[in-house]
Amino acid sequence: MTIQKNISLKPYNTFGIDAKAAEFVEIKTEGKIVELIKSGVLAGKKSLILGGGSNIVFTQDYDGLVVHMATKGIEFVEDQGETSLLAAQAGEVWSDFVHQTISQGYSGLENLAGIPGTVGAAPVQNVGAYGREAKDVIHSVKCYDIETGETRIFANEECRFGYRNSIFKQECADRYIVASVTFRLSKRHNPNIEYKALKDTLAGKGITNPTPREIAQTITEIRDAKLPKPEETGSAGSFFKNPVVSASLHDQIKEEHPNLVSFVVDDDHYKLAAGWLIEQCGWKGRGIGNAGVYAKQALVLVNNGGCTGKEVTTLSNAIIADVEAKFGVTLTPEAIII
Ligand code: EPU
Repeated sequence: MTIQKNISLKPYNTFGIDAKAAEFVEIKTEGKIVELIKSGVLAGKKSLILGGGSNIVFTQDYDGLVVHMATKGIEFVEDQGETSLLAAQAGEVWSDFVHQTISQGYSGLENLAGIPGTVGAAPVQNVGAYGREAKDVIHSVKCYDIETGETRIFANEECRFGYRNSIFKQECADRYIVASVTFRLSKRHNPNIEYKALKDTLAGKGITNPTPREIAQTITEIRDAKLPKPEETGSAGSFFKNPVVSASLHDQIKEEHPNLVSFVVDDDHYKLAAGWLIEQCGWKGRGIGNAGVYAKQALVLVNNGGCTGKEVTTLSNAIIADVEAKFGVTLTPEAIII
């Protein structure tokens, strides 16, 4: 296991920000996780576990140890009748894993096709798109305790999943390294096509009872039309969360802005489309310095070339201030700002 010094993180974050890590180590096997912990190099040291770097913005050099998870492997765990359990190592590329399960005849991950990043990051922020969240299909998460090296398996309920949230971002932040994730996938397809953009696009193609492959394909097309391609334009996907507000604030905004895009959460709360709020403030397609607001989806901040993390935070603060002033709603970043 080699610990490298002064390494550029540019290839390791999808925003393409050129920050440096004081120390950097790549982990290629599960055994190396244990070796890393037992070696004691993590003790008392600032460290960052990095997967695909697709949800992170570096605003400065990282003065600790970056642990890049590059473990690979997909394993059939158990046949449970109508479902099967499949485990994937943390460093597996999420999108490849999704397509592999579809090819093997499983259903459950098709709505999550095309999300950048790795399997290990999926439970941490409970990735979600097009009507499905990782929590709906995660059976359990195998982790190593950074202090003791002991294994701990978190059952789905123990992960305390929420909207882009989990125990790994809260109480257990910086305490565990996710080694692998076990998913419960269905052998019988039960399509979930309620998300409006998905439903409309499938209807436009005349598909009423889509296969998992058709769902994944359609979602990939929607994503390609709306989101920047990571290999062409740097971004961290949605930069902000969609804010959840009280029904009374929602009604007040709706009265002034009848085309507000919102979704019912429960009797007292609504989720607002942050992209819509940002667009109304005139930010779509604009920017500050080399940081921009993507012209096709205002929730996504992009690197227009050589952008620094500071430019991203200057832009995000300006957006937050404008949305607050116009709607009385405070946006919070979904991306992790370091
Ligand atoms: N909208 C606008 N203007 C915009 C963007 C959106 O008016 O510039 C409105 C549209 O009316 C649209 C609605 O907002 O119908 C919702 O937009 P979209 O379907 O693109 O989804 P989103 O709420 O903006 C969320 C996730 C995405 C995920 C999509 C699809 C969050 C923070 N983002 O975006 O996830 O792909 O739904 O399910 O929840 C990510 O987390 O990185 C990510 C890309």
